[in-house]
Amino acid sequence: MKIIQVRDKNEGGQVGYQLVAETLKKGTETFGLATGSTPISIYDALVASDLDFSAATSINLDEYKGLAADHPQSYHYFMAQHLFNEKPFKESFVPDGANSDAATEVARYEKIVDAHPVDLQILGLGKNGHIGFNEPGTPFDSLTHEVALTESTITANARFFDSATAVPRFAYSMGIASIMKAKQILLVAYGAAKAEAVQAMIEGPVSEMLPASVLQRHPHVTIILDEAAASRLT
Ligand code: F6R
Repeated sequence: MKIIQVRDKNEGGQVGYQLVAETLKKGTETFGLATGSTPISIYDALVASDLDFSAATSINLDEYKGLAADHPQSYHYFMAQHLFNEKPFKESFVPDGANSDAATEVARYEKIVDAHPVDLQILGLGKNGHIGFNEPGTPFDSLTHEVALTESTITANARFFDSATAVPRFAYSMGIASIMKAKQILLVAYGAAKAEAVQAMIEGPVSEMLPASVLQRHPHVTIILDEAAASRLT
């Protein structure tokens, strides 16, 4: 694991941008993308750049089940607002939250993951150590699946909704094994609220109870942290 400590989200955005730009310059590439507050400064830097993604593919980690693409809190909508409207990709895949048939949706999406090997996967980190919507206890061999969100994640994501009761209870997420297929992974975490999960991810035992700890087994991981997120590392 390569750990890069940055001053703040802006610097983290620049470092993340550089990694994306390097990957893009190697040729037509596939990017695994995340939503949430963490990657926004990377997407802002990409939007401000002259990079051209029209020959590249993107695959998002997850989507709320029950939210259609035009719902303002859907991850489809988030990606359009923060990246795709300004920087269109050749193809962009996000799980279909409007498909209520979980079995067909997860099978469809995992086929997409297999057909488009991810060159660089961007990840945020949940306070409970989740990656994607893979909550503690998710098997490391999981592929794309339907997830029942934990109270911790529902509470954390309630800030984007009118109230916690408006947060969907289920989601579709790439599994841990789907994520680990990526050739390179960039995980980003900011703020003191992530410090405990960061410490466990890097220094703790590899355990399904802390999903991000699986990254210790991946050969090519870069981690961007601000001082607060890195504060518990020994
Ligand atoms: C989002 C995702 C989640 C977030 C994580 C951190 O697509 O998969 O794992 O990365 O919940 O969220 P933020 O960045 O909002 O703190």
